[in-house]
Amino acid sequence: MNPHLLDVLRRLSHEEFLSGQDIARSLGLSRASVHNAVRDAEQHGLRLQAVRGRGYRLPRPVDWLDPAPLRALGFHPHLLDCVDSSNAQLLREAQAGAPHKSLLAAEWQEKGRGRRGRSWLGGLGGGLTFSLLWRFQRSTGELSGLSLAVGVALARSLHDQGLADAGLKWPNDVLVQGAKLAGVLIELSGEMSGPSAAVIGIGVNVAGAAELRAAVEQPVTDLSEHLPRPSRNRLLLDLAARLAELLERFDAEGFEPLRGEWERLHVHQNRRVTLLTGHGEPIRGEALGVDAQGALLLGVDGAIRRFHSGEVSLRGEA
Ligand code: BTN
Repeated sequence: MNPHLLDVLRRLSHEEFLSGQDIARSLGLSRASVHNAVRDAEQHGLRLQAVRGRGYRLPRPVDWLDPAPLRALGFHPHLLDCVDSSNAQLLREAQAGAPHKSLLAAEWQEKGRGRRGRSWLGGLGGGLTFSLLWRFQRSTGELSGLSLAVGVALARSLHDQGLADAGLKWPNDVLVQGAKLAGVLIELSGEMSGPSAAVIGIGVNVAGAAELRAAVEQPVTDLSEHLPRPSRNRLLLDLAARLAELLERFDAEGFEPLRGEWERLHVHQNRRVTLLTGHGEPIRGEALGVDAQGALLLGVDGAIRRFHSGEVSLRGEA
């Protein structure tokens, strides 16, 4: 990424044009550097409006991330304009002793990671991508319902934003009317027995889903398609608060108290589904719910079978 790109973009607004010369002067750069940075924006999924003689303008309003207000909630936030993956970076920081509740937000990920070896894409200024380090009293072996608890926190926060029909697909994809709005990737570090640490990575499409559709196979949506004025910073603050509330509870009581709420949020609850396990034939059955460890309970030929997080993906049947 061009080293001046974010500095240039932060100068721009959606309402007024700003000339290349004014941007260059305010940043102490040459006009050519500004021009190069602007060209680089397009490579990162943000096509600026450029009018000869007037300058540049953002194609839509963008609230650039400012995680500093999270300090008041006891987090240790920092922001990187560009990183390989916020999860990968925070895992490295966790190894080096980063404190509980470290939160790393990123404006751009070069190699955003998704579940099951997939990648996570987002246009510049369009997504909210961050990772949270949570140090648990429980061992890693007792964290199996964690990803579902995080899904509940996400759903609650999206409901707070006014998105009443945000639902979950096991284990923790967030869907709105069948299209993916957000995803969670949890990576653990720590011993099977002692206290453990989890890096909880969250990606939410806030704007720019139209551009993502060309690159992503499954249906995708973003907050701007459902809400009049979504804000990444408002969502980050609210979501972090929701996460803290549920993670504290999860550490003390596990997933069981959240199980009923999770099942009410499950878009496939009591529906016929197909599980793709990645090995062997797809498994057809009825999604009956989840157990206290977050495993999916599937009714297959009169028996109940359990599937653990990470093993399967799930498609609703027509
Ligand atoms: C999925 O649905 O496959 C999970 C997507 C998780 C994406 C987030 S974006 C922030 C964090 N850093 C990453 O590299 N991935 C997660």
